[in-house]
Amino acid sequence: MKETIAIIGAGYVGLSTAALLANVGYEVRLIDVDEQKLKVIKSGRSFFFEEGIDPLIKKAVFNKTLLPTTDYQKGLRGASIIFSCVGTPDNPDGSSNLSYVFAAAEEAANYISPRAIYVQKSTVPVGTGQKVQQIFTKTGNAINYVSNPEFLREGTAIHDALWFDRIVCGSASNEARNSVFGLYKTLEKNRHVLARIAELKKTATTEKGRYVATSLESAELIKVTANAFLALKISFANSIAKLADHVGADVVEVMDAVGQDKRIGRGFLNAGRGYGGGCFPKDMSGLIEAMNEHGADSQILTAAQDINESMPGYIVNKLQNSLGELKDKKVAVLGLAFKAGTSDSRRSKAVELANIMAKAGARVSAYDPKTNGEAKEDLRASVNVEKSLPAAIKQVNAVVIATEWPEFINIDLDALKKSMRGHIVVDAMNCLNPSEVTKHGLQYIGVGRNGD
Ligand code: NAD
Ligand code: UGA
Repeated sequence: MKETIAIIGAGYVGLSTAALLANVGYEVRLIDVDEQKLKVIKSGRSFFFEEGIDPLIKKAVFNKTLLPTTDYQKGLRGASIIFSCVGTPDNPDGSSNLSYVFAAAEEAANYISPRAIYVQKSTVPVGTGQKVQQIFTKTGNAINYVSNPEFLREGTAIHDALWFDRIVCGSASNEARNSVFGLYKTLEKNRHVLARIAELKKTATTEKGRYVATSLESAELIKVTANAFLALKISFANSIAKLADHVGADVVEVMDAVGQDKRIGRGFLNAGRGYGGGCFPKDMSGLIEAMNEHGADSQILTAAQDINESMPGYIVNKLQNSLGELKDKKVAVLGLAFKAGTSDSRRSKAVELANIMAKAGARVSAYDPKTNGEAKEDLRASVNVEKSLPAAIKQVNAVVIATEWPEFINIDLDALKKSMRGHIVVDAMNCLNPSEVTKHGLQYIGVGRNGD
């Protein structure tokens, strides 16, 4: 008989995890409160864009190894390992909103099998695991609790889940920790088969991921520390970019060389319009709140947050320095997703760029290959969302590349020049070659690349 795994929360993390485990011999019950999402999954596809996920879901739904349900009782029956992957947004004061985490545990406590393993995959503040365990203790359930934070990135979620750097499990029970490691070892063993089912275009060469066993509290803190450090790197690169703009240095050249130092590394040193998405902004504010609560010094994080907030305005100012007042100017914003490879536009700095310019009176036309519909909710009403790249760039005074989609990195510069009324290209992701752009008679404005 197949081992049964239950996954609570069918979002980016829960659905990716479920789609993989359901293709390596487990029966996976996927529980969510949102019937609409489950309806789409039952039809054999995802409700968001993510490379590789649709073929995995299709196969597992067809084989009846992935069973979406809103019914906790049905979902948890006989499940030996239960993953909690519900959302943890931030409260208005910046602290983490744990209501979904606690609600999922309260509901699960009614139906969970004795001695089952309850795995927290959601990103939570340190100390949350103890509180969740008390929910189960209250109902007399002797479960085993494991903190197993997730490190996948949207846009490369399936790839990251197969070629992971490390799997972290924090628990008081060695046995429970090893059972969870066992699931990942199965995924690791089958990674090439899974990559083929997912039709991934590229796979990594990393041989073996690391398995890190820690205490519960360390595992919780590892997750937010990793995200905060990556966010710090981005803001650091953006501070250096602002200086580079004044002194004629190119921040890309600088970071390429700085990143050669193995102690530093090149990753997350790309200057641009700043970080957004469903994770970094709320994980930074959650960590700041936790530090403040415990009297730890959070200045380094608040400084990084401030720099991040300044970036869209900084870039719009650079455009204004060349174009003059934005009122009645036509500007195209290319890209609305918070990064390339995803349809997610939560807290997207690309959306923020479009909104700042629209507020200043520019006539903004925006286009994204995947997130047009989702982004509309957060865009000012005056932003005109176009269905194609040619429609977005027609007769504009300036183009702003706000998300580094391949379609924009490889844009036909001749066609762009002919289509535009003006000649300014703002590269808010530093993803173009400046000399190629200028060679086509266009003016290039990057972030920290060519003076102000
Ligand atoms: P999401 O918002 O995409 O999905 C969460 C899902 O949980 C939703 O479908 C929602 O309907 C469901 N849900 C809420 N309450 C529920 C309940 N009581 N019972 C059942 N389902 C419920 O979130 P996500 O992006 O997948 O993130 C989940 C967690 O993982 C967060 O803590 C996040 O910080 C963390 N994380 C996310 C990523 C990522 O790339 N998105 C990566 C690593 C970690
Ligand atoms: C991030 C982490 O990279 C994952 O390891 C983590 O699991 C996840 O958060 C999470 O906890 O949810 P994600 O938000 O999907 O993943 O995307 P990233 O690739 O990290 O990018 C985040 C933001 O930073 C994007 O807006 C991106 O454009 C921006 N960024 C990234 C930069 O501005 N510069 C960089 O050099 C790198």
